[in-house]
Amino acid sequence: MAEAAHQHATRAGYDAIAEQYAELFHAELDAAPLDRALLAAFAEMVRRDHPDGEVLEVGSGPGTVTAHLHELGLPMTGIDLSPAMVALARRDHPQLSFEVGDMGALDRPDGSLSGLVGWYSLIHVPAPERQQVVDEFHRVLRPGGYALIAFQVGDDTLHLDEAFGHAVSLDFHRLQPDVVAESLHRAGFEVIARVVRAPEAGSAASEVSQAVLVARRPS
Ligand SMILES: C[S@@+](CC[C@H](N)C(=O)[O-])C[C@H]1O[C@@H](n2cnc3c(N)ncnc32)[C@H](O)[C@@H]1O
Repeated sequence: MAEAAHQHATRAGYDAIAEQYAELFHAELDAAPLDRALLAAFAEMVRRDHPDGEVLEVGSGPGTVTAHLHELGLPMTGIDLSPAMVALARRDHPQLSFEVGDMGALDRPDGSLSGLVGWYSLIHVPAPERQQVVDEFHRVLRPGGYALIAFQVGDDTLHLDEAFGHAVSLDFHRLQPDVVAESLHRAGFEVIARVVRAPEAGSAASEVSQAVLVARRPS
């Protein structure tokens, strides 16, 4: 099937900026205690309920979050649309497995994963396709499996045609927690936590509110 134009643009954009993106954000978790706490809580819930079984980060970029969760004891794999991002993640985290792939068509059997993390990646899926992607998350998770979804909050779409000096065409769809929760419910998830964080002054990455949702596929 032909690739959608937005996916082509997202891949090309992240291929162009991968190196600089990785450099800018490689230490972002060090300065984000609330994010680390939420990632730690997610890791603990997955380990408690599923001592075995793969956990996937979809849209893993340079692999920082994948590696962090691996250090917290989860058997992680990262998947990303951008081959340049995957190459960087493999270079920086050679002990982990990273694959090129599309979060809307995951190469995993039904009910096979203990956890799935979409950390600022669902923001690149246009509204008409978002439900199908969330349905895909539900398909690959085993009963009792957990999903962790992070995104910028809002109603607008930030469009960049330049980033780090490169010509790109990247859309960042800001999302409303209620809308994402509704989509998770429609897919069959129960939403067990939602945290909305206020904007942080002086942080380029956090100049709007951010939300993190934890959902569970019922047993
Ligand atoms: C803002 S970055 C976040 C990267 C990483 N999760 C982090 O927090 O550092 C978004 C990533 O999602 C990837 N992405 C976007 N759409 C995707 C899709 N349909 N399937 C897989 N990855 C995708 C991009 O290539 C990019 O690496």
